[in-house]
Amino acid sequence: MGEIIVAITGASGALYGLKLIEVLSDLGNKMRVIVTESAKLTLTHECGYDFEKLKSIEGVTLEDNADIAAKSASGSAKIDAMVIVPCSGTTLGKLASGIGDNLVTRSAIVAMKERRKLIIVPRETPLATVHIENMLKLSSWDTVILPASPGFYNYPNSIDDLVDFIVSRILDQLGIENNVSKRWTGDEI
Ligand SMILES: Cc1cc2nc3c(=O)[nH]c(=O)nc-3n(C[C@H](O)[C@H](O)[C@H](O)COP(=O)(O)O)c2cc1C
Repeated sequence: MGEIIVAITGASGALYGLKLIEVLSDLGNKMRVIVTESAKLTLTHECGYDFEKLKSIEGVTLEDNADIAAKSASGSAKIDAMVIVPCSGTTLGKLASGIGDNLVTRSAIVAMKERRKLIIVPRETPLATVHIENMLKLSSWDTVILPASPGFYNYPNSIDDLVDFIVSRILDQLGIENNVSKRWTGDEI
């Protein structure tokens, strides 16, 4: 298996990205991780987490969002999939317009042109019409739009439970076996 790109952008919910990286690492995956300037702020503000610490996670290569020549930006690199989690309205808009002006957006455009799996986890509420239009565009181009809206049917007890719900759905989309969140059996009701 090749590497997975995980990009954290400046939408609220940096914890979703952090948790995904931790679980992928625990499961033995290799990742290229990119953090935008705004995401450095949300990681600090929401999680008290210095993005440089990502470097010490097993399996992670931290790339610089300004480095447009990094491996993630290459169509010939052995990359299996890309996840943008959380994805800001700004990054969503750039992708819907084909703009690749930093490593996150360039790598996502490359993922689309190479027909790699691209999973986008948008976080905004309420949504502007432009967000909805951009999601429709990206979805019609085979991108998976996986909103950061956890279900409540498993009676979550904590923020971790809510985050795990989304992480589990991302792993399902990546085709990675996992029991991060409880699955519906059909016997609950
Ligand atoms: C604390 C904080 C929370 C934010 N939350 C969101 C959000 O939930 N959704 C969003 O689209 N933008 C949000 N933003 C704004 C983005 O960070 C901003 O639009 C930025 O340009 C995104 O750039 P990026 O996609 O390159 O990270 C937030 C900004 C801050 C400082």
